[in-house]
Amino acid sequence: MNGSFMETPVRGVTTLSSEKFPDAWEHWLGVEFLEIVGLHHGDRVLDFGAGPGHYSLPAALTVGRRGAVYALDTNHARLRIIRDKARHRGIRTITPLLVDGEPPAPLREASLDVVLAFDVMHLVTDRTQWYREFWRLLHPNGCLTVYPKHCKDDMPLGGLADCTIAQVRAEVERCDFRLRSFHRKHLCHDESQVQGVVLSFHKGE
Ligand SMILES: C[S@@+](CC[C@H](N)C(=O)[O-])C[C@H]1O[C@@H](n2cnc3c(N)ncnc32)[C@H](O)[C@@H]1O
Repeated sequence: MNGSFMETPVRGVTTLSSEKFPDAWEHWLGVEFLEIVGLHHGDRVLDFGAGPGHYSLPAALTVGRRGAVYALDTNHARLRIIRDKARHRGIRTITPLLVDGEPPAPLREASLDVVLAFDVMHLVTDRTQWYREFWRLLHPNGCLTVYPKHCKDDMPLGGLADCTIAQVRAEVERCDFRLRSFHRKHLCHDESQVQGVVLSFHKGE
């Protein structure tokens, strides 16, 4: 696991014009992506740092009516965007959660199947505290999936600027998670389709 992931093109990828991409991502490309990284029908999902919902919306389509998506963010305006998009599309399973940015999250222990932490860990003050909080929230077979955008290997920024992907993996594993899978995929960053690495962890023994 090193910087070389940025150098090899991903094969078998649908590329779309930049105007069409965000909508296509939220309706179907994101669903395909989330199924590959481990989301299932009926799952209860926390989208930590949900932003404008580029992952909350397809997550809701993936988990279906029997599932639930908690879109957690510190930014009220972004949560309103998610609420409006969900209403417009007739999606009722997304619950926006406005928080102050510090753990604990307003959710019960062992109440989740999946936590998505996509393009957000470079922004938090104490990553270890949040990884421990994700551990508390996930049930024993639950899955934490991290997109460590802005680490040293991928447009370094904020708190991850000096961390390689291998170091991100090590810091998550120090919080009693174990790496389950590693995906190099095209995904959504801001409004664009980019290539990135996603790490999925399960709770250790
Ligand atoms: C760069 S955006 C990523 C949005 C989304 N996850 C995606 O990948 O498209 C990061 C989001 O995390 C939110 N955020 C930053 N720090 C946070 C924290 N401590 N707790 C919850 N949300 C946070 C920001 O308000 C912002 O909406």
